[in-house]
Formats: sequence, structure tokens, C-alpha cells
Amino acid sequence: MDRRQFLTTTAALATASMVGTPMISLAQQSRAADDENFWQIVRNQYDVTDEITNLEAGYWGIMSIPVTQAYIQNTHFVNQNSSYYARRHYRQDYDKIIDRLARKLGVGNDEIVLTRNATEALQSLINGYNKLEPGDTVIYADLDYGSMQSEMRYLKTYRGVNVVAIAIPEPASYENVIAAYEKALDDHPKCKMMLMTHVSNRTGLITPVKEVVKMAKSRGVDVILDAAHSWGQFDFDFQDLDVDFAGFNLHKWIGVPIGVGMLYIRKNRVLDIDPLRGEAAPDNDNVRTRVHTGTMNFASVLTIPDALDFGENIGIKNIEKRFRALRNQWVDKVIDNENIEILTPQDERMYAAITSFRIKGKTSNQENRDLVKLLTDKYGIFTVANGGISNGAGIRVSPALYNSREDADKLANALNDITG
Ligand SMILES: Cc1ncc(COP(=O)(O)O)c(C=O)c1O
Repeated sequence: MDRRQFLTTTAALATASMVGTPMISLAQQSRAADDENFWQIVRNQYDVTDEITNLEAGYWGIMSIPVTQAYIQNTHFVNQNSSYYARRHYRQDYDKIIDRLARKLGVGNDEIVLTRNATEALQSLINGYNKLEPGDTVIYADLDYGSMQSEMRYLKTYRGVNVVAIAIPEPASYENVIAAYEKALDDHPKCKMMLMTHVSNRTGLITPVKEVVKMAKSRGVDVILDAAHSWGQFDFDFQDLDVDFAGFNLHKWIGVPIGVGMLYIRKNRVLDIDPLRGEAAPDNDNVRTRVHTGTMNFASVLTIPDALDFGENIGIKNIEKRFRALRNQWVDKVIDNENIEILTPQDERMYAAITSFRIKGKTSNQENRDLVKLLTDKYGIFTVANGGISNGAGIRVSPALYNSREDADKLANALNDITG
């Protein structure tokens, strides 16, 4: 799209009213999950290219049209009012947004701070965790996010600890994942801290966080939770997980404009994370001193309430059911295909939108990248190849609310066609 087209499109978006795109009524929610008409209304709230069937929403979650409109308006507002707004009023707006996010997560407003993404939040947590002594052990898993794994490995240099990587079993089950973490803790009694990923970016696996955290805590081991993919993808009670440290993304499944993540530290644990590079005295327990984002995109932050409104209007239980339905729509059609391995188990506790697969025997990154290319070029379907899985690479499929059941069918048909 050239600049002229871009300006025309953004002008149209900025001026388009919501007339003709009916708002989703809360009354519809009870029948929403199975009602294709309802989901058509939701799909109409997204402006998506028809150049490709995009099943790669795991990268980041695009804004719905109302959120885009709010973002355009907020951008205009911030630009117009500049530092005069930012210096005088932004802080109050920010605090109100923090209050709302804290209520939604069921935590204190003094336990969270916004970051520019989950990476920034998790780097601060892993790097800042100050209870490690040389000779201690830290643990991460193959299904954790690559740059968080690097951050964990760096603790060897930075804190002098022994860094252990474990493999999540494949096929995974609720029990064998818990057992894998239990074995890791048994094998490494000097473990003090463990990274855990709530929803793996590699396979979409939802891990049994609550059970593992309980087990870890009983042995004096802290868990840092990578929740980059979970908030907004499915319904869970964060309090119930009993996690003390977590990093979130708002620009994935919550649908906030790009550039917003969040860090959580339980109030009585803030001192266990160092203030960022001398940001404050070590005894300062203000969570906001645990990151320093520098200037953030004010308009993105100001648009958070609009994205929350949009999601809450549909309802997280409905969203979760819809994601499972879209996932099952393609998985059910290929699960009996002997040449396809589904890398995410058929256990509703362990998946929502995202699921990965590989064609039997095709375990290299290159083979999977080639298949992504084939799916794109020949079948018009966009996905992504993911390496780093112990048993070999695979392809991740992440549908979004703008996808239809037909999109999922299209993928299943392509896979059955390719594997003959
Ligand atoms: C599990 C996981 N953790 C962390 C991140 C980092 O998110 P961001 O790039 O928005 O910082 C991602 C991004 O895909 C992820 O999938």
C-alpha cells in the first residue's frame, strides 16, 4: 500500500461510524459460542486483508475496528496536545488504566506496571531476580520462548548459577507435564527459580501452572510465569495460579495497539526483584521502579480501555469457546491422518486457539519453513514454522476472532491434500 492509499484508508477508518456494524449485545452472549451469526457480527468488526487466510495471530493480535478508531483518535489527541497533555494529565489517565487492569486480573494496583511488551517485563523479572547465589540452579523448558531461554542462560554468567533445560514430553498430557517438572525439581534440589510459560508460543500448550507452582513453592522454588500468550486467549483466574512474578502482553490476545505489555510482582515479593539498573534504592518496594520503559506510545496506552471493552462485550468464556471451536475445526479433520502429528494434546485444559503440527518425519526447521511457503503460495494460508521443540520443529496455527470455520477447513483440506 502506498502512502496515498494509506492516508485514504486511515481517513476512511477514522471517519467511519459504527452504523452498519452492530455492537455486540451482552444479551447475545449466552448463545454466542455456538452461534455462527453472532461470530459473523464479531468478524465484521475486523478489517482484514483478503490477500491471504491468516492463521498466524500468535505473532500479535490486530485491533478490531472500534479499537482502531479509538487508537486513531487517541493518536490525534496526543499529537495535538503533546507534552502539555503528557506532563500534566497522562499520569492520572495511566493510573486509572492501571486500576482497571488490576481489577481485571484480580491484583492490587500497586502490583503491576505497564511495559512495552512481554519481553521487557520478563527480562526485568529474570534478570532482576536477586535471590540467586552462585551454585544455585535455575530451570527452563524447551517450549519456553527463545529470548526468555537466553535470559535464563545468561544467569550463568550474571549470577553464577547452574542453568538446566528440560524437555516437555511429546505427546504432552496434563500428568506427564506435571511429572516432568516434578522430576526436574527432584533431580535439582538446589533449584531456586524456574521459568514457566502459561501458553507455549511453540505449540500452544497450556501448562498446568497451578499444580507446578504449588509443587515448586513447597520446595522453596519461585516460578516466573511467562503469560505473554494467555491473557485474553482463554478464561483463567490469575489469583488461583498463585504466581508471584509474571509478564503479560496486551498486544496479543487482548487486542491493544502494539507496544503494551505488563509486569506483575506480588506486593510482598517486590524486593526480590532488583530495581532496574539503579532506578531506585534496593529497599524501595514500588513495582514501578522494576522497569524503565522510557517514553511509551501514549496513544497505545490510552486505547487499553477500548480494547478491554471490546473483549468484555464478547465475553472471555465465549472467546475461549470460539477459539477451541476454530482449532477443533481443523484438528478434527486431520487427527486421523497418519502422516500428521498434532503437537498439542486433545485435552481442553491444554489448548485454546493455538495448536501446532508437523508432517511425520519432517523435523528440521527448513522442512517446516518450506511447508509454510507451500501453504502460503499454493493454498493461500499463512502460518509460521517453529523450531526449538525437543522432538523437532513444527508449524503453529493461531486463529483469531476474524477467522471463520471455513478458514480452518481450508487448512485441513490443504494438509490432507499435501499428505496425499
Ligand atoms: C511465550 C512468549 N513469551 C514472550 C513473548 C515476547 O512477546 P513480545 O515480543 O511482545 O515482547 C512472546 C512473543 O511471541 C511469546 O510468545
